[in-house]
Amino acid sequence: MPVITHDITLVANSLLNDEVAAIPTETVYGLAGNIFSEKAIRRIYEVKQRPLFNPLIVHIAAVKDMWKVASFIPPLAQALAEKFWPGPLTLLLPKKDTVPSIITAGKDTVAVRVPQHPIALSLLEKLPFPLAAPSANPFGSISPTTAEHVASYFKQEFPFILNGGPCKKGIESTIIGFNEHGAIIYRYGSLAIEEIEKITGPLQEYIRNEENPDAPGMLLRHYAPVTKTVLSSDIKKSIAENIGKKIGLLLFDDRYTSDEATVVESLSIDGSMEEAASNLYAAMHRLDQYSLDIIIAERFPDQGLGKSINDRLQRATHP
Ligand code: TXA
Ligand code: MG
Repeated sequence: MPVITHDITLVANSLLNDEVAAIPTETVYGLAGNIFSEKAIRRIYEVKQRPLFNPLIVHIAAVKDMWKVASFIPPLAQALAEKFWPGPLTLLLPKKDTVPSIITAGKDTVAVRVPQHPIALSLLEKLPFPLAAPSANPFGSISPTTAEHVASYFKQEFPFILNGGPCKKGIESTIIGFNEHGAIIYRYGSLAIEEIEKITGPLQEYIRNEENPDAPGMLLRHYAPVTKTVLSSDIKKSIAENIGKKIGLLLFDDRYTSDEATVVESLSIDGSMEEAASNLYAAMHRLDQYSLDIIIAERFPDQGLGKSINDRLQRATHP
């Protein structure tokens, strides 16, 4: 297993040596490397078994560093960055020629954000280059929200996991792009779109399909437990349909208990969507360890972070 450490300097030196390292952010743990090191970036794709057509997110230390990777910053992007960075918002900006095309998978835009985690920020401030970092999980599986999740996924493929504790937000950043008409939502995430729309006006939907995986976080099956998982708006009915099976329940709050289930995960005691989002992936990781026949996940109210949680559950349950 990679070594779990709190030593920021140790990890900074490793990154300076073209190694990759797992790092904490407020959303999920990332598998980071120097954007200018071809060796490190190739290693990220290799370790994750990620297809090369799937571009990476670049992490910078401050709003002003956008110019290190972007050739142009639309006024709406500038406004969003000033309002929400550091924070769980990724912006797609026209890329500078100096950003290697392996980062952007040949696209002319680069995905960039300033993470809201003191350890990630202090690491970025120590380094003379931005860090590319996809989530630190094998392609398609559940994203890690603790250092231990990352360790459980990997054997010896990279030296260090920088421990920053459990991720506060717990689901990935929201991804926003731009065209001549305004802002486009590419991926629902930890920043609710209602907050973004206060600045941008109504967001355009990105037209997604399997042949056009512009944001493969948008692939139909993704973030998936190994155990068969279904999404349900009627928990009682779904249990009745699966009587006799070893059932795990993934519920919004603790309103509902069941004798038929082997294990029940309640994501929030008081029905807070923020709390539910921060617990979602850890609960999915735990449920996956019970050798269940089926996980029945409760559909969330379709607003605020509920939209982002439903999006992840939908992809986790896609056959
Ligand atoms: O919260 C997060 O965003 C985490 C932490 C580590 O920062 N990172 C993350 O990275 O979720 P990843 O690689 O798992 O997801 C990045 C998503 C992918 O769906 C990728 O296709 C999309 O961003 N993406 C990156 N660059 C893009 C671009 N130029 N155009 C469209 N989509 C892009
Ligand atoms: Mg990911």
